[in-house]
Amino acid sequence: MSFYGKFPRTRMRRNRRDGWSRALVAEHGLRVDDLIWPVFVTEGKSQRTEIPSMPGVFRLSVDLAVEEAQAARELGIPALALFPVTDAKLKTDDAREALNPENLMCRAMRAIKKLTPDIGIVGDVALDPYTSHGHDGLIKDGHIVNDETVDVLTQQAVLQARAGCDIVAPSDMMDGRIGAIRDALDAAQLTHTRILSYAAKYASAFYGPFRDAIGSKANLGQGDKRTYQMDPANTNEALREVALDLDEGADMVMVKPGMPYLDIVRRVHEAFGVPTLVYQVSGEYAMLKGAAERGWLDGERAILESLLAFKRAGACAVLTYAAVEVAKALRRG
Ligand code: PBG
Repeated sequence: MSFYGKFPRTRMRRNRRDGWSRALVAEHGLRVDDLIWPVFVTEGKSQRTEIPSMPGVFRLSVDLAVEEAQAARELGIPALALFPVTDAKLKTDDAREALNPENLMCRAMRAIKKLTPDIGIVGDVALDPYTSHGHDGLIKDGHIVNDETVDVLTQQAVLQARAGCDIVAPSDMMDGRIGAIRDALDAAQLTHTRILSYAAKYASAFYGPFRDAIGSKANLGQGDKRTYQMDPANTNEALREVALDLDEGADMVMVKPGMPYLDIVRRVHEAFGVPTLVYQVSGEYAMLKGAAERGWLDGERAILESLLAFKRAGACAVLTYAAVEVAKALRRG
């Protein structure tokens, strides 16, 4: 005997018959408040260059990024995530440009906050945009060294917070960086600055177009990030990563990439019940856009469906390069 009923008295299609009825029984939904828009900033003025492997995504000079941030806020997008395209001349082994208070990131943060103070800014805390070798950490004797890297990340986080960054987001996967960053922010009276930890970040092939965008792919060469980013074979390990970061003071955690890792989003959401974000990364965006450009997919529907899937899996917000077009589509209804 079934508690829920049986065919023919029970017909699952009845609730699906009309749009209004489907809307009433919908369990999940995507709202503009769920979106964080990653933006690549570059040097110069009035610069807007498309990234070939990410159709519709541009490297923007600060003046244009400021305009676009204002437009994004008007569309209702709550936050931006900034990534710098650092001049190749400024990349060094020790990533020292990361600690320059006048670097591109800091200038962009100050400029955006000045015009649009009510948009949240997420700052990428990591060294790969600044290292000549394209890694997220410092290298000694052929190894990415953890604690020395954390020292630099800590200073970088404080610098960004002072430049107006609301949420510092370490994307490097060094051990112990969340606690070190929290202590340093608190010591600098930046107790309100939030930490979004890229807690479960996998060593993924789906980051390729991003590395084109910030110009770190050539620097990284044949190198990979498997000594610090997670093995795609693991799920329990993601829960340990999240638990450690929460213990160290993370306010929000992230799973990355998104679509191939929906199981991780669900497990983290269920195990911890903390704000769980997900990053629809560059390779996911490129796949969807590439297929849409060829007419193989209805691009808008496919992107909306992929984002809804993140909500269903338990994410509270999504970083997506499609944030602006999605916000417009949601507004059209
Ligand atoms: C590196 C970083 C990466 C992304 C965000 N921060 C790439 C990497 O780990 O090599 C990827 C984002 C994307 O693919 O959209 N700190």
